[in-house]
Amino acid sequence: MAIDRTHCQQLDAQDPLSGFKARFQPPQKHTIFLDANSMGAMPAAVPDRLASFCTDEWVELRRQGWNHTEWLDRPRQIGDAIAHLMGAGQGNVVVCDNTTVNLYKILTYAWQSRKSGSTILTEDGNFPTDLYVAQGLNHNHPDPPEIKVCASRDELMDSFNTDTAIVYLSHADYRSGECWNMADINHRAHAIDALTVWDLSHSTGAIPVDLTGDDADFAVGCGYKYLSAGPGGSAYLWVNPRHAENGWPTICGWMGHQDVFAFATEYEPLSGAGRHATGTPAVIANEIFSCAAQIWQEVDEKHLWAKHKALGDLTMELLEQECGSLGVTINTPREYKQRGGHIGFSHPGAGPVSEALLAAGVVGSFRRPNSLRFGLGPLYLSYEDIWEAVSRLRKILESGDWQDAKYQTVSV
Ligand SMILES: Cc1ncc(COP(=O)(O)O)c(C=O)c1O
Repeated sequence: MAIDRTHCQQLDAQDPLSGFKARFQPPQKHTIFLDANSMGAMPAAVPDRLASFCTDEWVELRRQGWNHTEWLDRPRQIGDAIAHLMGAGQGNVVVCDNTTVNLYKILTYAWQSRKSGSTILTEDGNFPTDLYVAQGLNHNHPDPPEIKVCASRDELMDSFNTDTAIVYLSHADYRSGECWNMADINHRAHAIDALTVWDLSHSTGAIPVDLTGDDADFAVGCGYKYLSAGPGGSAYLWVNPRHAENGWPTICGWMGHQDVFAFATEYEPLSGAGRHATGTPAVIANEIFSCAAQIWQEVDEKHLWAKHKALGDLTMELLEQECGSLGVTINTPREYKQRGGHIGFSHPGAGPVSEALLAAGVVGSFRRPNSLRFGLGPLYLSYEDIWEAVSRLRKILESGDWQDAKYQTVSV
C-alpha cells in the first residue's frame, strides 16, 4: 500500500521523541533541514545561554570565570553527556579541538602504541581529512608508517595481514552512508595484533555505536553534525581505558597535565583520556555544545536509534515511491546495519536538483558527481517533514524545474 501524508502524521502521533522537537529553534520559514550530517539544529536554549555567558560571565567575572564557572569542566562534562550515544564509559570521552586535530593526536598515539606492523590500513571512503592526516604522518613522523589506501571495501577486507599496525576507518561513508561492521573489524584487527581508529562523525547521535561492546581501541568525531554543537563546535575523542596510560599524548599541553594550575616545569600526563586535552578549551563554543549536551543527557539512545531507523526506512520508501520513476536511485544500503546517519541517492542532474531543492526550502547536500544526501536528525525531524521534503523533490523532478539555467551553478 502506498504511503501517504496521513500515515506519516500517524507515525508522528506515536513518536516517543516528539517532545524534543520543541527543544530546538524552528526555522522562521518552512524550510526542512535534512543536513544533520553536515550541521545539526540549534538548541533553543542557546541564545539565552550565550546572553548570560556574555553578561554574567565574561563581563562580570572575566578571569575569575576560570574559578567560578564550568568553563574548565565542560570538555569532560559534555563528553560524559554524549558517552551513552557511543557505548563509552564515563570519563573516557573528551570534547576538544576539531576532528582533524583529534585524528592527528589519536592516530599518532595509536601509532606509538602499536604492538606490531608497519602499515596503517584504510580505504578511500575514509573522509579526505582523515586520509591527509595519515599521509602527513607518513611524511613527517621520524618513524613513518606506510599508508595503504584500499580502493574498495573488499580490498580492505583482503588486506589484513601481519604488517597491519592500525585499521583506520570512517564508521559511515560520508558519501553513500554505508557503514562498517565495527565489531567484525575490531575482531579481525585484534586477531592480527592491530589496533583500530574510528571516525564516528556520521554515526554518533544517529545510529547505534557501541565502542566498548564492540571492543574498539580509539575513536574521534565531529560535534557540529548530529550532536548539534554548532558551527565550528568542538569535536570529541575516545580512548579505550586499556590504552589510556599507554604513553604521553601527541600534544602535551597544560590542560592534559595532572595539575594544570601547579604551573609545574615538568610534564606529568593526566590519567585517562583527559591527557589528550591540549590547551584552553573553546569556552564559548562549549557553552553552545553544553545546551545540546543537556538534551543528549535526557535522550534514551534506544528511542533515538529506533526513530532514526524509521526515518531512514521512510525516506528510502518515499524516494522510491514518489521519485523512483523520475530518475532517483538509492545509494545507501537497504540493510539497516549497513547504514550510517544519512540516506544517499543519485540522479543524473543531482547538482541542479540540489539547487532547486534549496530554492524550494529543502536543505540536503550534493556530492560530485551525482549524489544527494539527506541527513536525518531524529530529535527534531518529523515523519511528515520527510513526506513534505520528498513531495517537493517529486514536484521539481516532474516539472523539470531543475533544468532551469538559474540552478546550474551548484553550491557546496
Ligand atoms: C567523517 C568526517 N571527518 C572529519 C571531518 C572534518 O572535521 P573537522 O573539520 O572538524 O576537522 C568531516 C567533515 O565533514 C567528516 O565528514
